[in-house]
Amino acid sequence: MNLYLNGEYLPLEQGRVSVEDRGFQFGDGVYEVIRVYRGKPFRLTKHLARLEQSVKGVEIPLPEPLQKIEEVCRTIIKGLDEAQIYLQVTRGAAPRVHAFPADIRPTFVAYARAVQPAPPDRVFTLKTVPDDRWGRCHLKTICLLPNILAKQKAVEAGCDEGLFIRDNGTVTEGTSSNAFFVRGGALFTHPADNRILNGVTRDAVLEIARQLGVRMRHQAVTLIEAMAAEEAFMTGTSTEIMPAVSIDGKAVGTGKPGPVTVKLRAAYRELTAKECT
Ligand code: PDD
Repeated sequence: MNLYLNGEYLPLEQGRVSVEDRGFQFGDGVYEVIRVYRGKPFRLTKHLARLEQSVKGVEIPLPEPLQKIEEVCRTIIKGLDEAQIYLQVTRGAAPRVHAFPADIRPTFVAYARAVQPAPPDRVFTLKTVPDDRWGRCHLKTICLLPNILAKQKAVEAGCDEGLFIRDNGTVTEGTSSNAFFVRGGALFTHPADNRILNGVTRDAVLEIARQLGVRMRHQAVTLIEAMAAEEAFMTGTSTEIMPAVSIDGKAVGTGKPGPVTVKLRAAYRELTAKECT
């Protein structure tokens, strides 16, 4: 029994986790890898301390007391000599929403596998690669931990969506939606580069805006400019076109959905009705 999954010891191949596990859907989890030499884990206490720090950092409760996790590690390596332990804690399984679901229990996986020690004459050759972790927001990947932590922050502040602001003060997008601002009657949205997900809804909105003769600017706005906008709205598959009436508690424009937003929203509804009859 080299696997421990949510309180049960099992053969590794029998381990099953829900398809709605947030580790699987959002990368909403943390992990540790521990080397076992001659049947003994190396620096187990250090690894467990880091696991505790990691779960705390992403606000996942520790699934078991550290002492119990240590006991689990010692149990799953029984019969192994040169091995590796893999520990993973995710926020758990629940219907897919970005913010932390209520009443969720973390998923805890611990398993061990035998490893082949590297021969003492083994060497590495290196290739330089840009450190662009994570500069690929245009790809719809499941690396969504930053998004869900941001969404949770927004929800805890009593808001509906988080608006991402870069270090240089520009607005990129929402945690699961694209952002649009009306300034001087023109529609501003961040260019479709690697800093945003180029939404299918965003694209449809641009198409509608063109048809309605709304002037468009594929240009990032600063937060200061966004706050001074006449109107703002967010777009997404589940969000559709959602008027954004305040940012950090300050009203955008009149604090009510503006005329451009209302017009685009009605046209979007017509478009979905036309294309999905
Ligand atoms: N999210 N930006 C981000 C970061 C998103 O996650 C999404 C969509 C969008 C809008 O894309 P589209 O219009 O193609 O849905 C923009 C989905 C809906 C989600 O994660 O639930």
